[in-house]
Amino acid sequence: MILANILFCDQDDLGQILEVNRASPYPWSERIITRDLLVGDTRLSYIGAFASAGKEKLLGYAVLGDEKGNGLLMNLAVLPAHRRRGFGTQLTVAAAECARDMGFSALALRVRLSNFAALALYGSLGFKIGATLENFYSNGDAAQYMSAKLPLVIAEEMWE
Ligand SMILES: CC(C)(COP(=O)(O)OP(=O)(O)OC[C@H]1O[C@@H](n2cnc3c(N)ncnc32)[C@H](O)[C@@H]1OP(=O)(O)O)[C@@H](O)C(=O)NCCC(=O)NCCS
Repeated sequence: MILANILFCDQDDLGQILEVNRASPYPWSERIITRDLLVGDTRLSYIGAFASAGKEKLLGYAVLGDEKGNGLLMNLAVLPAHRRRGFGTQLTVAAAECARDMGFSALALRVRLSNFAALALYGSLGFKIGATLENFYSNGDAAQYMSAKLPLVIAEEMWE
């Protein structure tokens, strides 16, 4: 597995984050992302996976927040050309470590019930399936709630 350079993002990374967001089938509002990064919403951490030691090429990012005393993985996206290389996994693990550093004992998330790629990724990292939330998204899609105790327990072969 190629390891990405995982770094916190700031306003200088806004353009690259918007680019990755636009390539996602589930893009967030650009207005919200811009506000988060330019105003500096301290409740949210944007965590980037960069291709090299610098920040020239953003491959993907995760957004970590909190809800009801747990860490909440609010978003995760990887550029289409760089998927299936472990970067989504690395970002999720980094978000989990960040949540642990913040004192959370669990990391939760919601994912579309139809999003088999993301469901498989989270399942492979030990996230347990919780409630199904019907009509959760604005288009009527259902969400699957998932959560994992921290630290994540990662199978050694995952890093080979
Ligand atoms: C979901 C997403 C972030 C995964 O990123 P990624 O970098 O491709 O993920 P990884 O390479 O770490 O994949 C880890 C595992 O997840 C599963 N997985 C990932 N993509 C998959 C796919 N398209 N089909 C089936 N399983 C998939 C596999 O088990 C994979 O392990 P493997 O490649 O050894 O088989 C990426 O597909 C994406 O950006 N999708 C659009 C946005 C999105 O759905 N975000 C999730 C919001 S909750």
